[in-house]
Amino acid sequence: MARILITSALPYINGIKHLGNLAGSMLPADVFARFQRARGAETLYICATDEHGTPAELAAAAAGQDVATYCAEQHELQKAIGDRFGLSWDWFGRSSNAPNHRLTQHFCEALEKNGLIEERTDKMVYSVDDKRFLPDRYVEGTCPRCGFDKARGDQCDNCGELLDPVDLIEPYSVISGSRNIEVRDTRHLYLLQTKIEGKIRAWVDSKAEGWPALTRGIAYKHLDEGLIDRGITRDLAWGIPVVKDGAPRPGFETKVFYVWFDAPIEYIGATVEWSEATGAEWKRWWRTDEGATDVEYVQFMGKDNVAFHTVSFPATIIGSGEPWKQVDRLKAFNWLNWYGGKFSTSGKRGVFMDAALELLPADLWRWYLTANAPEGSDTAFTWEQFQSAANKDLADVLGNFINRIVRFNESKFGPVVPAGGEPGPREQQLYADVAAQLAVLTTELEAIEVRKAAQAVRALWVLGNEYLQEAAPWTAFKTDVDRAAVVTRTALNLAALYGRVSAPFIPFAAEGICKAFGEAWPPAWPGTDIAAELSRLEPGRAVAAPDVLFPKILDEQIVEWTERFGGAEAG
Ligand code: 2FM
Ligand code: ZN
Repeated sequence: MARILITSALPYINGIKHLGNLAGSMLPADVFARFQRARGAETLYICATDEHGTPAELAAAAAGQDVATYCAEQHELQKAIGDRFGLSWDWFGRSSNAPNHRLTQHFCEALEKNGLIEERTDKMVYSVDDKRFLPDRYVEGTCPRCGFDKARGDQCDNCGELLDPVDLIEPYSVISGSRNIEVRDTRHLYLLQTKIEGKIRAWVDSKAEGWPALTRGIAYKHLDEGLIDRGITRDLAWGIPVVKDGAPRPGFETKVFYVWFDAPIEYIGATVEWSEATGAEWKRWWRTDEGATDVEYVQFMGKDNVAFHTVSFPATIIGSGEPWKQVDRLKAFNWLNWYGGKFSTSGKRGVFMDAALELLPADLWRWYLTANAPEGSDTAFTWEQFQSAANKDLADVLGNFINRIVRFNESKFGPVVPAGGEPGPREQQLYADVAAQLAVLTTELEAIEVRKAAQAVRALWVLGNEYLQEAAPWTAFKTDVDRAAVVTRTALNLAALYGRVSAPFIPFAAEGICKAFGEAWPPAWPGTDIAAELSRLEPGRAVAAPDVLFPKILDEQIVEWTERFGGAEAG
């Protein structure tokens, strides 16, 4: 069995992430990681905060903190919230940590040795009052084409014209509003992607067949537009210093690597952090000359990140000429929108991860966000859909089944698995149905079809209610106690199986279920002999009554939250 390396796109450091970020990278990666571990695959799930760049600097300034302190605090916040959502990272690193510094500088050196780095002089907008060069989107001014007075440095939102900030009429700094703006020369390092375009395309060709359509489409669109050489340094103070031969690179003392150059390298950096913290070996995950040839590497991300991961980061790796493990499967997601618009912090639209946990347990969010994962197209969150998914699937179907059978068992047989009777035709039918649905679930999880996998696990839950309804142990109990015992025992086993197969989606409830039935946690994925899987709980085994598994979301809560977070009227 292959070892499985999983990474989810690194969340930016500035601010708690919203549910869309969670749904499109970290959560599906977690579902997949939990599934792979349950199947017994050696699995490593790595994530980290993406800490560099202008937005981090500005967010720190807005918070009145120095950037290092700000990042350290925000990292801890994001880590704590991820834990509370059950994100089972093996390591949650920081792109500002030392391993990423070393690796990023190393990659640049390797690229330079291979003739793929060039110093070039650029003209860039400099804000004298802010004492800094301004990235494109931090310069605004009047559009030379349509006269719109809030055109951004990279594009005019009024007429759509793509712009260069130096084209803007009367430019001003978005940071301070100052019009004391100059165009200055500045030197930067360029990664000569044009020199290795053929190699990059050949690599994409070798991988693309296994990529989903969304990933493949974006990768080829980017390649077909033609690669350009890419600036990999910036005039900023916070970031990874540019060095040469172990010393600051002359002329680059006030510059750092561009955040998008160092961020994906942190996938490796975070693994080194994990290795340093645990003593585990990192190279067997990342170096094909050190055993990583049996690793299957799976990345998760939103669609805006795909070009960086299918072309830009591979250019760094390929250009280094070194035997690094590269991505095998790349699962990309569309947007989860908020009522057809975007999530917005300033506009108070949408739910963010911290607020979500104030309202309801993580499992309810996890369930909704996986059952409605934005896979085929963008999808919209609505409170009504959320209420319906959580109440119907979790409370009415899964929760109800488990409560019903555990209570019935307790009242008739005591808090242990009952003995007596032999499985009959209805049980054989159940085994066949469960086997078929479990096969679908396993296949969809293996294929990372998140929605279909959620549908399959829901279909498994439905089988339980149908079985109880038809086999009616409460009726059998009056005339045939042995028959009632078989049905009850089978249903208790089914409930325990639900704990195991639901764990990737709703790990908190699943843990409660597994423990109530004395099953191991974390659980192992069931095999294909369902008769055996549904007879694991032997007569006499203690069964603890689980608490109410899932709270029902009330109509008045929906009214309150719609008001508080913005809802239909805001879309
Ligand atoms: O889009 C984002 O949220 C980026 N912070 C993702 C970076 S992914 C990786 F390259 F680090
Ligand atoms: Zn315009």
